[in-house]
Amino acid sequence: AKSLVKIPIFASLNCITPEMWNRMAHLVESAGADGIELNVSCPHGVHIMEGRTLKDEIRKALDATTDVKIPRIVKLSPQTSNPMIEADEVEKNGGNGVVVFNRFTGLDIDLDTEKPILHGGYAGHGGAWAIHYVLRWISAMYPYLHIPISASGGVTNGKDAIKCIFAGATSVQICTVVILKGYEVIEKINREIVEFLQEKGYTSLNDIRGKIVGKILSHREVDRRKLYVAHINQEKCNQCETCYKVCYSSAIERHNDRRFYINENCVGCGLCVEVCPRKAIELVRV
Ligand SMILES: Cc1cc2nc3c(=O)[nH]c(=O)nc-3n(C[C@H](O)[C@H](O)[C@H](O)COP(=O)(O)O)c2cc1C
Ligand code: SF4
Ligand code: SF4
Repeated sequence: AKSLVKIPIFASLNCITPEMWNRMAHLVESAGADGIELNVSCPHGVHIMEGRTLKDEIRKALDATTDVKIPRIVKLSPQTSNPMIEADEVEKNGGNGVVVFNRFTGLDIDLDTEKPILHGGYAGHGGAWAIHYVLRWISAMYPYLHIPISASGGVTNGKDAIKCIFAGATSVQICTVVILKGYEVIEKINREIVEFLQEKGYTSLNDIRGKIVGKILSHREVDRRKLYVAHINQEKCNQCETCYKVCYSSAIERHNDRRFYINENCVGCGLCVEVCPRKAIELVRV
């Protein structure tokens, strides 16, 4: 691959013993890899499936590979109570970066065969939803880590990639979207990133990196008092009942004129706005 492309190539390794980490790291280094990803987080790998303490596994992998000359980054798992602890361990033990994150270990069931799908056991599961967890933890790590963070999980377009940079990522990885849409999607994502920067008047990704961090309120600061209530535009509404069925606050009632009205129970959650097929509902400030 090195002879075919001009871009850097990182080799991803998943080993168990110090001897294997060391041997494989040297093999990929001599094959021309520009960097190594130490993957202690494979969703169906030994580290995760045996419930090993990832902090220890990270230290062991980094200790075993100190004599390679190329950068070593560690791919973290989303399946720990506080991934900051593992990220900190990477930095303390000389790692050159973290990948946030691998996939969650999950299960899906084929109801025809009544067996687990994929390999017949637990396996990695992800999707567009995963990005929210990725953004959350990158933004938490960014102010404290001095090594680069590579975002991974749920990125499907340029806007997702930009969000990762806003959270503090130095680079953004994609996998599923390439499988679904082909390698051409990389150019499209790059174009969308450039367009965003130009539209907003930014000159480089450095202008937006980590920009969200100072704007995230702590759980103590978040104001949970009612700020909005729903309002139905009767001219657009066709009385389909969708909003009435989803509102869990009993805030939508039907009057004798067959129309739906919002009552004082509305907490402004916005669910009805999302589901209304006629876009007949808006949230208005109280
Ligand atoms: C088909 C497929 C197979 C994968 N296999 C592995 C694997 O064997 N080990 C592993 O650590 N991660 C595996 N991953 C996870 C990817 O390395 C990567 O973390 C993830 O797909 C990134 O999220 P995204 O697909 O939303 O971009 C796999 C992902 C896909 C889609
Ligand atoms: S905003 Fe939420 S609480 Fe208010 S009417 Fe809509 S679904 Fe119900
Ligand atoms: S979902 Fe929209 S169209 Fe349907 S009843 Fe509610 S407001 Fe009317």
